[in-house]
Amino acid sequence: MIEQRIRDISGIKYYAASHPRVRKYYRQGNRPREFGSKVWATTLVVLERLSQEEKNFSNLKVLEIGCGWGLLGIFLAKKFSCRVTASDLDKNVLPLVEMQAKINNVHIETKVSSFNELSTRYLTNFDLVIGSEICYSDEVAEDLRKLIERCLAAKVGKIILADPGRPDFKELMLKLTTSYKVQVEILPGSANGKKTYLLSIEQNLQEQELYEEKKD
Ligand SMILES: C[S@@+](CC[C@H](N)C(=O)[O-])C[C@H]1O[C@@H](n2cnc3c(N)ncnc32)[C@H](O)[C@@H]1O
Repeated sequence: MIEQRIRDISGIKYYAASHPRVRKYYRQGNRPREFGSKVWATTLVVLERLSQEEKNFSNLKVLEIGCGWGLLGIFLAKKFSCRVTASDLDKNVLPLVEMQAKINNVHIETKVSSFNELSTRYLTNFDLVIGSEICYSDEVAEDLRKLIERCLAAKVGKIILADPGRPDFKELMLKLTTSYKVQVEILPGSANGKKTYLLSIEQNLQEQELYEEKKD
């Protein structure tokens, strides 16, 4: 019965929110504050999509932002041997990341941090910054826009954000397309009729653009 509360997706395992270990952790007064009390559905869609990749992500240094339970990072550590740091504003989610990492036999570093606290200098440590379902107000969208600027200044190779198409995320996508070469892949959503937006910004495409501008 308890085993049934451990789920499998794309080659990794995760505890359901109803698993006794998770419930015990919550009863001890550690309930996440900012929507981090479960794995969000978009993340499961993104995991399925990333599992189709062959080696694009191998051995990268990855920062997962707004990680919640950290499944994207755990997947990248497991399938692509990435070195992963999972970060979130809410310190209560990070022991859950460690719990989930343990049943997958991977090690994940954790860091308490808001998007605004991730400095350009710190971001130079990473090849990939990734986050899913983290944009749900115009303030947060603006924080993410500035974070993307810092990532590019820090020469982070790739930034990936996923969202089920909330209005604030769509506005962010529009703003980003005016400044950067942005790729958006639209995947089937987690519920009928919904979509998952997978936005990526690659450092080398921005540099190519600058090079072409200088040539003209
Ligand atoms: C909807 S949950 C998504 C969690 C996880 N990415 C997933 O898809 O399962 C949003 C997460 O973002 C975190 N968060 C919200 N605002 C944040 C901020 N300004 N800086 C860092 N993390 C933030 C929350 O604590 C929460 O864990």
